[in-house]
Amino acid sequence: MATMGKDDLPEMMTSIRVVEGKIEIVDQLLLPHQVQWLPINSPDEAYDAIKSMKIRGAPAIASLAALSLHSYLSSPTLPPFTTPDNVAQHLLPILDHLQSSRPTAVNLSEAMNRIRAVLRHTHSKSAESSEPDKAVQKIMEKVKKVCMAVHDEDLVRNLDMSRNGAMWFWMNRREGKKKLKILTVCNTGSLATSGYGTALGVITALFQAGQLDTAYYAQTTPYHQGSRLTSLELTTLKIPACMICDTMIGSLMQLHDIDGVVVGADRIVANGDTANKIGTYQAAVLAQRHKVPFMVVAPVTTVDRSLKTGNEIHIEQRPPIEATQVRGRDISTGQLSVVRITPEGVGEDDKPWNGVYNPSFDVTPAELISCVVTEKGVAERQEGENSIDVASVC
Ligand code: MRU
Repeated sequence: MATMGKDDLPEMMTSIRVVEGKIEIVDQLLLPHQVQWLPINSPDEAYDAIKSMKIRGAPAIASLAALSLHSYLSSPTLPPFTTPDNVAQHLLPILDHLQSSRPTAVNLSEAMNRIRAVLRHTHSKSAESSEPDKAVQKIMEKVKKVCMAVHDEDLVRNLDMSRNGAMWFWMNRREGKKKLKILTVCNTGSLATSGYGTALGVITALFQAGQLDTAYYAQTTPYHQGSRLTSLELTTLKIPACMICDTMIGSLMQLHDIDGVVVGADRIVANGDTANKIGTYQAAVLAQRHKVPFMVVAPVTTVDRSLKTGNEIHIEQRPPIEATQVRGRDISTGQLSVVRITPEGVGEDDKPWNGVYNPSFDVTPAELISCVVTEKGVAERQEGENSIDVASVC
C-alpha cells in the first residue's frame, strides 16, 4: 500500500480551532450550507454546544470538553485557589457536568476520568506541601497538559487506525478485485475527530492508495450526519462517492457487489459489542446476510472493558423534534430554514398517542462484526465465535 499522510489531500474540514488561545468550533447544525465559527468561552458553553450537537462525534466532543477546561484554567474568571484541594473541589463538578452532556460516547467520560486521575494523584502527593502556591500551580499545569493531550493524540492515532483498516480490507478482498466499494454510516471524518477520521479515515486511506472504487454513505436520518457532513467531507476530498437513503442498504448489497462496511463507534465493550449511530445494527444484519465484511474502527479510548456486553450500554435518547423537523437551504430564497415533516402535534408531550422513538445509537452484537480496528491493530472475530478479543488491540 502506498504511504499516505493527511498532507497529500486537499485541506480537510476541521471542527475545532484555537485562535490566539481562544477556542472556536464550526456550528455543525449549519453545515453543509454555512460555515460559521462559534466561540467557546467556557466549559458551560462547551456543554451546550455538545448537548445541542453543534459539535458531535465521540472524539471531537471529548476534545472540545478538554480544551474548554484548558482555556478555563487560564481565564481571568478563575477563582483564586489556595490549595490543591480547592482546585479539585472546584473542577470536579465541572467535569461531571461536561460528562453528562452526552452519555453514550465513552471518549468523553474517558477524557474526564483522565483529568480526575490527575486531580486525585497530584492532590494526594502535594497534600502535605509546605508551598501551597507551588502545589496549586503544579496541579493546574498537569491538568492543562492532559487536556491538550486529549486533543493532540487524536490525529496521529487516526492515521494509524485508518492504515490498519484499509490494509485489512485490501488483504481480505475477493479474488480479482482491483478496487473496493465500501459503505459507511454516519460521519466519522475530520469533523467528528481532531483530523483524518476513523471509519472515514479508512475510506480515505483506501482512496489515497488507489484501492477505492466508490464510498457509499447512508444519509443517517434523523440528524443527517451522512447527507450533510460525510457528503461535504467526501466532496472536499474529491473521493468518488454515492449517497444512499438508509432504507437502501439491503438493495445496495443485493445489486452492487459491496466489498465492505466500515463504521465508527461510540463505545465498544469487553466482548466486542459496539454502540454506534442508529442504523449501524441494521447495516450489520444486512452485511451478514450478504456475506459482506463489517468493520468497526475506533481509538483505544472508545473501548470500555468495564462493561461486559452491549446490554449494559446506556443509549442516549434525542428529543422528538430532531426527528420531526429537518434543516436545509430553501432552494428558491437561499435562506437556511427548519421545516416540519410530520403533521402538527407528532412527538409533542401532550400527544402521547403519537410519539416519536428517537434513540441516538444502537448496539451491534459482536457476532455481526468481522473485526474491530484500533490504532494498535486489528482484532478479528474467529469463525463461529460470538465475541471479539478487543483486549488484544488496546
Ligand atoms: O450523534 P453523533 O453524530 O455524535 O454520533 C456519531 C457517531 O455515532 C460516530 O460514528 C462515532 O461517534 C464515531 S466518530 C469518529
